[in-house]
Amino acid sequence: MTLQEKVGQLNFPVGDLFMTGPTMETTQSDKFDDQIREGKITGIFNIYGASYTHRLQKIAKEESRLGIPLLMGADVIHGLKTIFPIPLAEAASWDLALIEKTARIAAIESTAVGINFNFAPMCDIGLDARWGRVAEGAGEDTYLTGMISAARVRGFQGEKLSDADTLAACVKHMAAYGAPEGGRDYNSVDMSERRLRETYLPAYQKAIDAGAATVMTSFNDLNGVPCTGNSFLLKKILREEWGFKGMVVSDWASISEMAVHGTAKDHSDAAKQAILAGTDMDMMADAYINFLPGLVESGEVPLEILDEAVYNVLKLKYDLGLFDNAYLYSNEVTEQTKVFSAEHLAISREMAEKSIVLLKNENQILPLKQSSQKIALIGPLANNRPDMNGTWSFFADANAPVTMLEGLQNLSKNEVLFAEGCALYESTEDKFEEAITVASQADVVILALGESAVMNGEAASRTDIGLPDNQLELAKRIHALGKPIIVLLSCGRPMAIPWLAQNANAILVTWALGTEAGNAIANVVYGNVNPSAKLPITFPRNVGQVPIHYQMKNTGRPYLGLNNEPASERIYVSKYRDSPNSPQFPFGFGLSYTRFKYSGLEASADRITNDERLKISVTITNMGEREGEEIVQCYIRDVVASVTQPLLKLRKFAKIKLKAKAHQVVTFEIGRDDLLLVNNDMQWVAEAGEFKVFVGPNTLDLQSLNFEYQIN
Ligand code: GLC
Repeated sequence: MTLQEKVGQLNFPVGDLFMTGPTMETTQSDKFDDQIREGKITGIFNIYGASYTHRLQKIAKEESRLGIPLLMGADVIHGLKTIFPIPLAEAASWDLALIEKTARIAAIESTAVGINFNFAPMCDIGLDARWGRVAEGAGEDTYLTGMISAARVRGFQGEKLSDADTLAACVKHMAAYGAPEGGRDYNSVDMSERRLRETYLPAYQKAIDAGAATVMTSFNDLNGVPCTGNSFLLKKILREEWGFKGMVVSDWASISEMAVHGTAKDHSDAAKQAILAGTDMDMMADAYINFLPGLVESGEVPLEILDEAVYNVLKLKYDLGLFDNAYLYSNEVTEQTKVFSAEHLAISREMAEKSIVLLKNENQILPLKQSSQKIALIGPLANNRPDMNGTWSFFADANAPVTMLEGLQNLSKNEVLFAEGCALYESTEDKFEEAITVASQADVVILALGESAVMNGEAASRTDIGLPDNQLELAKRIHALGKPIIVLLSCGRPMAIPWLAQNANAILVTWALGTEAGNAIANVVYGNVNPSAKLPITFPRNVGQVPIHYQMKNTGRPYLGLNNEPASERIYVSKYRDSPNSPQFPFGFGLSYTRFKYSGLEASADRITNDERLKISVTITNMGEREGEEIVQCYIRDVVASVTQPLLKLRKFAKIKLKAKAHQVVTFEIGRDDLLLVNNDMQWVAEAGEFKVFVGPNTLDLQSLNFEYQIN
């Protein structure tokens, strides 16, 4: 390979379907044919189509000097054409098998249209609801995010990367992108190495241990060093400590943006820093293609560093089977048969049903009876199709989703009255009167409120995470009619909804549920499906509480005692003067149409030593009249440790299905690996001493046992 051909393998431009970043002047796709012939690009992303990719692969294979096949990348974040609930919604299902299945379907549909490299899963821990990209992750918890990310990697990559229906996963965004100051996207991240290692890094590592083929660097600087040029992350952590052997791609222009961060004097300096730090491939910065040849010729970048990066890219292409068959993913027959099938839509509906969280159900107003009850569906999301797809659904058909109105009409034996009520955001009240008239004709009002698809996701941070004023005003006017109100809350983040929490009779978090949204929501509203989802992220009372999460520490002046009793001191404690410390709805919370009783909590011993394991068992009884699924959660607390520890850390969970009146004993095994913490020497250690283990339906309703961990 010539020097230019080597550098060409590190150059990764965007196609012309849609821009997911600042448009650069070089994104002129009519130049791709020549650039491929000249070996100047390694692949293209945000592309689509078996015939289109086949044509480009043919040029690469037959008209370039070396015939190296192309990567075809894309952001298939929650489905390609069959759109699943946004990742945060899927996380609310806690259903690892189903999450793996939706990723598998996303891979089947993506590879059917020529895509072989998926920029997912996003493994960023999201503790800050102001940050719009919490929508793309699995919430606030390190353990749950790690388990879900690993399931997504397995779904995307399948058994063998060289199979025609598997594609390369990409663990992103390395690292701690979810902790920007102020929750403002792309903003600086600064934290102790201990917090980085204990809270933010494990989920990326879990996804890499699941075999992820690639990693994407993140836009942010971390402790003063942009992640794309951060050798502590990309070499020490990723390569030396985790043994990652795959390929590292930058995020969109994040190499050249190092000059904007101010740690590189120009794009050449940025290219040098990035390649030396371990970023193999340049997405959209044109930095490597323009400057690496000169940097290598001048000796500023050793040739072996360039060769290492090129090797990682070529190995990825080899592992994908592209050298054996460049057209493996460009099969027009599969494109016709494997995309948007009825089978895929059925799974999308099932995942949507299992992602809906029931937060409130006063007097069991839900499920609605199919009797004479006349319902009015009112709100800007009621008859809305495109926003059901949610953020990061560029390949989707905006007109494909089943609206909430259609879903309810499909199921309801009665007429479903409808009024839009207001716009999503503009503070106009001109539709209020019509909505109030419609509502007054109904027995029950369903309000479809919340965020549109662009109010969360990338570059969508918000300082106000409440309902837009006009939507809240509409709700209050309708509430004044005195009718029962059920809220369907569309959102890609936790929203502060204190008035709704107080005044609505029932609240379902319907996130952005994808193609089958309306049908899934109707199935839950009418009780064909018993909601089972639980929050993977804390819902604050107000934005002032943010960041708020369940892994809070006791502090030296706790507001509540260790058993949630009011602390003796009333003034000088860690509290707010204008808000409780507690969230509106806690992590792990979600109601059901039935009720589960937890009893008989017991442990196999009151101490374990070294690698012994403690068996914790609890009996779960379905006390209600209908079958339901329950997500049983198991947390631990390290009572005294060398560093302060959260009061709760999720360590196990189990999702069980119980028929009415049935019961099941659920057993968890706790061992040394579940007791680990990062000490001040940055070592993962289990420290001897007293521990508590908690079991329950959410973080506020837990039973506990004590045990001792001994080391000898
Ligand atoms: C975007 C995102 C990243 C995505 C990439 C390509 O800016 O940060 O998650 O994969 O660019 O679209």
